[in-house]
Amino acid sequence: MRRLLEISLGEDGHTVHIAAEAEAGLKCLRREVIDLVVTDLKLPGMNGLEFLQEAKRVNAALPIVVMTAYGSVETAVDAMKAGASDYVLKPFTMAEMKLVIRKELDVQKVRDENRTLREALGKRYHYQNIVARSGKMQEVLAIVARVAPANSTVLLGGESGVGKDLIARAIHQNSRRASGPFIKINSTAIPDNLFESELFGYEKGAFTGANNSKPGKFELADKGSLFLDEIGDVPAPIQVKLLRVLQEREFERLGGTRTIKVDVRLVAATNKDLRAALEQGTFREDLYYRLNVVPIDIPPLREHKEDIPDLVHHFLARFTRENGKEMEIITAPALKLLMDYHWPGNVRQLENTVERAVALSSDDLIDVDDIHLDSGPSKNAAAAAAPLLPEGMTLEQWEDEIIREALRRAQGNKSQAARMLGLSRNALRYRLSKIGVVDEE
Ligand SMILES: Nc1ncnc2c1ncn2[C@@H]1O[C@H](COP(=O)(O)OP(=O)(O)OP(=O)(O)O)[C@@H](O)[C@H]1O
Ligand SMILES: [Mg+2]
Repeated sequence: MRRLLEISLGEDGHTVHIAAEAEAGLKCLRREVIDLVVTDLKLPGMNGLEFLQEAKRVNAALPIVVMTAYGSVETAVDAMKAGASDYVLKPFTMAEMKLVIRKELDVQKVRDENRTLREALGKRYHYQNIVARSGKMQEVLAIVARVAPANSTVLLGGESGVGKDLIARAIHQNSRRASGPFIKINSTAIPDNLFESELFGYEKGAFTGANNSKPGKFELADKGSLFLDEIGDVPAPIQVKLLRVLQEREFERLGGTRTIKVDVRLVAATNKDLRAALEQGTFREDLYYRLNVVPIDIPPLREHKEDIPDLVHHFLARFTRENGKEMEIITAPALKLLMDYHWPGNVRQLENTVERAVALSSDDLIDVDDIHLDSGPSKNAAAAAAPLLPEGMTLEQWEDEIIREALRRAQGNKSQAARMLGLSRNALRYRLSKIGVVDEE
């Protein structure tokens, strides 16, 4: 394997140093200028995790890709925690390995360039309608600035309401495709049986009711960008088709024979950990690597609270304008209340809270009384004294009960139940199978 990698990566123009054991590898790291490490987790002389930690000590910014056997995903997760940047499950093809390596080197390059750029210019990124005072959001925008003009596929990650839609649009608007269409498709909202025709279109007579032919979103997005929201919810048969389009940029309409070629830039988003879906086998690995060329993770609001005052003013300006009110001022205690909150619903929740406050305030001042935060887990004494779980129930039983209840409330509609629970449809299916609710689909 080591020789094979040496030859194959060498052919790609990389300078490859090989080491048969951990000690030799570390020596090489100290002696040479190394851009990236590929290592197995089972090494002679040292355990793989120890090696990772030692290597990080030599160079903390070094990208390390680990190879690990199928079924030892836990070790892979440990490796990621210890600082590995990605993992490849054995057995793998050279193409998969190269894809991961190229992605890591690209990301590293973007980071380096951004650092030097910012250091040289003290540059701050500014995009219309995006508040980003904090370092964390500036980092996000720096990557946006780098990748937008390129055609690379972008995978946006982040909790619900952090601004994935907003960033996807910014990428489009700052690309060479800005004058082309921006087409969005939300995987959660499309029933499985309509997915294919929605994405790829259909020809007249493709199915009962297809009285005309219709182009799909891929065709509509030609010369522009396609935003695939909630990518984790794409059903398995469509994942295969998507993979082909990503590889070959061509497809056929449903019921059609003509091969259609498109020039589309793909931006995908997920608010779940796609890795979990990979491990559960509900999301194809090959597709994941195709999508995850440039990952951009948008931090939750609680991790960049410095942006709250600017965000509040941004939303205040918008809602007062929309309501034909005079610009309102927020009092210091009211702002403090907003700063102290943990924002489980992120920027969207803050936006809603400000909108409600503007609607409720009778004068031009927003004060503590005008602010209504979803009670959520409140921190007062009474709540702290109350039992967390119903009598005699374990956390797991309670969780199962909540899942069943969601399904009841959604009258069996899994997409709806999944939304209530903040799970992807696939993740819900997986949990249902675990608690023995059969899937009749
Ligand atoms: N940095 C920001 N500056 C200004 N407005 C923001 C920012 N981040 C998010 N918003 C606003 O917050 C709202 C929610 O953002 P958006 O819809 O992009 O989130 P999302 O990550 O796509 O959420 P979901 O996962 O639910 O689809 C939008 O109205 C958006 O304009
Ligand atoms: Mg969104």
